[in-house]
Amino acid sequence: MEEYDSTQVTLNKLQVHVKDMQKWQINEDFAKQVENSKALPALYRHALNELENKIDIIRTEWQVRDGFSPIEHVKCRIKEPKSIVQKMQRKGYELNLDNMEQHIHDIAGMRIVCAFVKDIYRLVDHLCAREDIRVLEIKDYIAHPKPNGYQSLHLIVAIPLVLLDGTRWVKAEMQLRTLAMDFWASMEHILYYKFDKQLPSHVAEELKEAARAADELDQKMLRLRREILELSEGSGG
Ligand code: GTP
Ligand code: MG
Repeated sequence: MEEYDSTQVTLNKLQVHVKDMQKWQINEDFAKQVENSKALPALYRHALNELENKIDIIRTEWQVRDGFSPIEHVKCRIKEPKSIVQKMQRKGYELNLDNMEQHIHDIAGMRIVCAFVKDIYRLVDHLCAREDIRVLEIKDYIAHPKPNGYQSLHLIVAIPLVLLDGTRWVKAEMQLRTLAMDFWASMEHILYYKFDKQLPSHVAEELKEAARAADELDQKMLRLRREILELSEGSGG
């Protein structure tokens, strides 16, 4: 699992790290291919910038219309070449650029943290309806949490980049979560990080219990919001 950086997506990260690839004793041919294909990292960076801009506009619109935006924060990251290679090897793909483009959907990644669960679905509905974003896949780990308790809604999308040779759709992974889900996932990541053995069953169970607590907190906040809205409508506010 990799860190999402709230700072601007690091430029040319892929290119900078290509030189290190030999050190990691991975396929040199592939490292060269990535290095020679200077356009590729730039494509993912631009796609992510485009996506960030679209989300920014949605945030502003929500803010202007409703007085607040349900999007709490947005973080972006470009996957490290090392992680790309590891993932391709893990999934059994031969290391070449075609396979990378076709099978690794999360080279460009965006995490959006919302206040309320409902807002996540509102946002997904909106994204699905847009013509300048293709939603290729939806994984709803909110309705169907992972066995360890993990909740989030994942989208694989494609973003159009208008290039000199025409339009190219570049893939990105979007993870949508509430603050409570983000808290749990971040803690789980910290606790679990570098622990590659099976968790003792009571630890796994308590972690799952913590995920349920986060879910209950989300439900409670939704109920409170509904109640407060009703009160303010009732009082003509
Ligand atoms: P990957 O090979 O990890 O990409 O799995 P996948 O392609 O089946 O994607 P999936 O949608 O399951 O997960 C993609 C990303 O979601 C991961 O890289 C993490 O950032 C996040 N994620 C998935 N499962 C967990 C989890 O159990 N805990 C935490 N903290 N994050 C998770
Ligand atoms: Mg993935």
